[in-house]
Amino acid sequence: MTMPDSIDAVQTLLADTGYVCGRSLATVVFLSLRLGRPLFLEGEAGVGKTEIAKALAQALGRRLIRLQCYEGLDASSAVYEWNFPAQMIAIRTAEAQGNADKDVLQRELFGPDYLIERPLLQAMRPDPAGAPVLLIDELDRTDEPFEAFLLEALSDFQVTIPELGTIKAPEPPIVILTSNRTREVHDALKRRCLYHWVDYPTFDRELDILHARAPEVAETLSRQIIAFVQGLRTEDIFKKPGVAETIDWAKCLLALDVIDLSPEVISDTLGAILKYQDDIARIEGSEARRILDDARAALEPA
Ligand SMILES: Nc1ncnc2c1ncn2[C@@H]1O[C@H](COP(=O)(O)OP(=O)(O)O)[C@@H](O)[C@H]1O
Ligand SMILES: [Mg+2]
Repeated sequence: MTMPDSIDAVQTLLADTGYVCGRSLATVVFLSLRLGRPLFLEGEAGVGKTEIAKALAQALGRRLIRLQCYEGLDASSAVYEWNFPAQMIAIRTAEAQGNADKDVLQRELFGPDYLIERPLLQAMRPDPAGAPVLLIDELDRTDEPFEAFLLEALSDFQVTIPELGTIKAPEPPIVILTSNRTREVHDALKRRCLYHWVDYPTFDRELDILHARAPEVAETLSRQIIAFVQGLRTEDIFKKPGVAETIDWAKCLLALDVIDLSPEVISDTLGAILKYQDDIARIEGSEARRILDDARAALEPA
């Protein structure tokens, strides 16, 4: 699969996988591919950050390697570990057979057979399909020491394993980092990357996304859903629904054979778009009716 040679080509390529990509996001994706720079995507949960890495891997025919970040993630779980239980068994077996030559055993135990490759090391391995897409997901969940480590790993794409030597990527992976911005990621890391804030989509784009992801939902209902969700996002609530919630909700309504939104249906299915009881309590009933009325009015032809 050849690399896209224009911003339009990026949009087309991603559209073929069902990913709806606006012009500014397509531009930064294009530049990231062209310049070989990591792409840092920040935005609220459920706006399509993780999905773009998946779509890109699929569109380019590359392997997707995902490093899911979490609190306490350290370099060894991100790069490699030694298979300690297997090493123990090998030692026991060698002892039992009485052929425990210390040097031979040591070389074997710290060789490729006992190495567990974690995502960063996997991403440096050559691949016949071309360099993989490395997704470093939800970076804001880790801590500063890990960021510092990552900064280094992303600058030279090589790791040194004391027992095995240095492994260097023949071709650097396509790197996408995401953050839900629960905390600010350090400047130094951001400076190494191209940055893009992924916003909630506009009405038209979200409708396109819904068409792509839930084509079975009828047009009138689809429009009502988007208008309602977009209205809901302007309310003062704790956790605004993402695109993922819009799609989920549409599928719920489809399963319930709903053809037209009503305040009752909305109240019964709010759990698909709002995930906090305080938000649900706030919107249920008269608020839902008001947002729906506004949404209907906005949909009226002028
Ligand atoms: N632009 C888009 N085009 C197609 N689907 C999208 C788009 N944005 C979001 N989605 C849908 O929303 C879901 C959630 O997106 P995800 O990438 O997991 O969000 P984030 O990583 O930003 O929290 C995806 O599974 C996808 O189906
Ligand atoms: Mg995500």
